[in-house]
Amino acid sequence: METVPRQHITQKKIAEHVQRLGELYPPIPLDSVDRTIKRPGLVARKFGHVIDYLARVELEVDRNVLELLVLLPDVDEINKTFYADVWQPQEIQHGLILDRLQQDLGRTAAKPHLDVSFKIKILGALAHLKPIQDIAKLMYFLTGASTERQAVLAYNQINRGMQELDETAISETIITPIKQQEPGHFAFYQMSATAMIQDKVLRPWQLFLTRVLREKSYHLVGTNQMKQYKADMGGVMVDLGLDHDLEAYAREVGRVENRLLWAHKQGMEFPPYILKALKESVDLYRERLERGLTFA
Ligand SMILES: [Fe+2]
Ligand SMILES: [Fe+2]
Repeated sequence: METVPRQHITQKKIAEHVQRLGELYPPIPLDSVDRTIKRPGLVARKFGHVIDYLARVELEVDRNVLELLVLLPDVDEINKTFYADVWQPQEIQHGLILDRLQQDLGRTAAKPHLDVSFKIKILGALAHLKPIQDIAKLMYFLTGASTERQAVLAYNQINRGMQELDETAISETIITPIKQQEPGHFAFYQMSATAMIQDKVLRPWQLFLTRVLREKSYHLVGTNQMKQYKADMGGVMVDLGLDHDLEAYAREVGRVENRLLWAHKQGMEFPPYILKALKESVDLYRERLERGLTFA
């Protein structure tokens, strides 16, 4: 099994990637969107929940920046440029555009969850110690790779759905431009995590601890480790048809950390905690359906 790519990821390569993203993809202006919706009722019925979820998660980017500053008190120039000049300005526009779309569909505005959790604060306090800082950094990159991959997959699916509904304006002026920006984010986190492994930044005990922490704290994008959001995310997976093959989805979402953290587990296709999180979300959603409740 391949452990790390043969190509060496240098800091220079990462910096060039960040610069290219900034040049290629300026934040999407709100007024570039064509707000034509042919059948708002139908779009709301089929994808309303998904759009609500994505809008909230994208708007939570400001909390993600706060978390990053807590977790990486000694953040370096490349990371700073990425989150301040590329990532945050792009993601917040995704959030504002989707939030307006959900309101155009007659749904209520998103309520992003902007408090940094206690767990993050504790890890942040410990992250002032250099060995912990490196663990926090790898965790941050792995989380980024996993969540951005989930975003890519979700936007691909929703775009297909909008095209099937013949909602060309939504597909071409909202989802397509947003979807073009996500793979670059994923690539940044993937390259950054890979570089840490290739350069052997972490000692074996630090890698061990990273694995334990991933197992204990892994969560799907936007669930904020809260039951209600986990069930919502289950609903997103069901609405996008991603629940048909959860193992395939786990493979996609977990590829980076499977390769970087678990290469010694020969033949393992994805870390089991990822499939567990996916199943839990879908189960919580189904339970809620059985109780006759829809999305909160
Ligand atoms: Fe985004
Ligand atoms: Fe993103």
